Order: sequence, then structure tokens, then C-alpha cells
Amino acid sequence: MQEPSVQEPTVQEPTVREQPYAVEVRGLEKVFTRRKGLGRKRRVALKGVTFTMERGECVAILGQNGSGKSTLVRLLSTLLLHDGGDAWIFGRDVFKEERAVRRLVNRVSVEASFFKKMSAAENLAYAARFYGMGPRETHAKIPEILERVGFPAGRRGEAMENLSRGMQQKVALARALLTSPVLLLLDEPTTGLDPRSKQEVQAFIREIRLRHDSTILLCTHDMHEAEDLADRIGLLDRGELLFLEPVAEVKERYGATTLEEAFFAATGRTYEDEQTEEDEEREVFA
Ligand SMILES: Nc1ncnc2c1ncn2[C@@H]1O[C@H](COP(=O)(O)OP(=O)(O)OP(=O)(O)O)[C@@H](O)[C@H]1O
Ligand SMILES: [Mg+2]
Repeated sequence: MQEPSVQEPTVQEPTVREQPYAVEVRGLEKVFTRRKGLGRKRRVALKGVTFTMERGECVAILGQNGSGKSTLVRLLSTLLLHDGGDAWIFGRDVFKEERAVRRLVNRVSVEASFFKKMSAAENLAYAARFYGMGPRETHAKIPEILERVGFPAGRRGEAMENLSRGMQQKVALARALLTSPVLLLLDEPTTGLDPRSKQEVQAFIREIRLRHDSTILLCTHDMHEAEDLADRIGLLDRGELLFLEPVAEVKERYGATTLEEAFFAATGRTYEDEQTEEDEEREVFA
């Protein structure tokens, strides 16, 4: 008679890391529901998104309109509730330790809010106070940081509402850096900027990487920007992260010479294709 075969328990080697990942996302889900006529419409914005980022790394996430980039950024900055999965930032649970996470993260997005009647310098001073910086430190740091983002010295005292979008974007970046966050979440930091401002902001992002110990998650539509600034590139497609790897590996895997070609090979669509009903259905964030 044959011995009953006893299945050896498979022992999974625990991954021992001295430090937690800068970002660890496991099976992250987000579903939006909204009223449509008499019923409700569900929109899955993120489907089981999983990835990790090392400290000091810069990762760019590409994806068409509505692919879930901003949703990911908003979840990681504790601005949205999730519908499944987990996320940690430097080992802190994003959905259970919100306060600790907020101290580690700074988000720059097109929706950046300022006191419109106040100047760039005043807005930065306010933010500095909010983060507990002393007046002496603030006094020295604000002009320096504005200069570094390429903000003209002569306009430091001008009301925010009189500044162009590009200028405002620079102030938003300066504000994000004031407190030296360890994780910077940049949601389309150069969209809508003129070529020169765009280059200045990109140069600044490069400089942040050199000067600060920052980890950067950059969402962008600009493939060249992604390739230029990031160590690895991810592609979100309708809420799914199709890949996240160094650009050379992305190209090799899809036999592509450009990221545009790789995008086409991965999704069967060109990047410009199909901006669909997603756009029309967009809701303005409250
Ligand atoms: N507050 C909300 N209410 C309802 N649906 C939302 C909300 N926010 C996002 N969505 C939906 O979730 C999906 C992902 O949106 P998200 O803004 O994350 O995309 P995105 O990749 O940032 O797009 P874009 O490139 O246009 O900024 C879209 O289908 C969008 O319509
Ligand atoms: Mg977005």
C-alpha cells in the first residue's frame, strides 16, 4: 500500500529588510460610485495596484486621463479613503497612521491651494509656521527656496492671484520643499507650463534629488520628462499598473525604441487615442 503523501509545508522566506520601503503598496483598490440617472455608477479607479519604492528613488507614473494617477497620489497623501489593499510610507500605515504619514509626505498638484490675496513669500511663511518652523529659519529660507525654483525675486511680494500658473506651480514646489519632506508626490508638476518654466521645474526636481534625501513619485503625461527624471517608469492603464521598471527594461520587453511604442505595445492603443467618456464624466474635486 502506498504511504499517504504528506505535503511538506512550504516555508516562505521572510524578506528581511533593515529599513522599510519608502513606499509599499499592496493590492490597492479604489472605487468611486456616483449617481447616474436613477441608478448608481461604479468606477474602478485603482485595481489591485502593487509596487514598492526604495528611499531616494524617483519613480514616474504615466497614464492617460482617468487612468488613476491622481487617485493613487491622493490615497498616498491620506486625502481619500481606500476600498481595499494596503499602503505604507516608510513603514507607516497610510490608512491607520494618517498623522504620521502626513508629516512624511508632501503633495504638489494642479489643485494646490493658496491664499490668493497673499504673496508667494507670505504663503510660504504661513506654511512654515504651520509646520512649526521658527521665524529666524523662515526668514532665511524663503528667499533662498524661491530663488532655487526660479521664482523672480522682484515678484515675491505680489499677490498669488496675479501670478501665472507656471509661477504658482513654482511656489507650490517651493512650499513642498520648505519642510524637506521625505516623500514628494508630484502630480503633473509641469503640465500647462511654457517650455522655459517646464525646464526650470524639471531642473529643480533634478536638484531636489541631488540635494535632499527625497523620494519622488512623479505623475506625468510627458514621456520624455519621465524618461529623463525617473529611475523607473510605471504605466497605469485604467487603474491597473501594467509595469514599473527601468526605462531600458520597458523598451526591451516590448521591443520598442521609444516609450510611446512601448505604451502602444502594452495597451494596444496610442497614448493620444481615446480620451473617451472619462473626460466628460470627470467631476471637479471638492
Ligand atoms: N471624486 C471623484 N468622484 C468620482 N469619480 C472620480 C473622482 N475622482 C476620480 N474619479 C474617477 O476615477 C478615475 C481615475 O481618475 P484620476 O483623476 O485618478 O485619473 P488621472 O490618471 O489622474 O487622470 P488625469 O491624467 O486626467 O489627471 C477616473 O475615471 C475619474 O473619473
Ligand atoms: Mg490626474
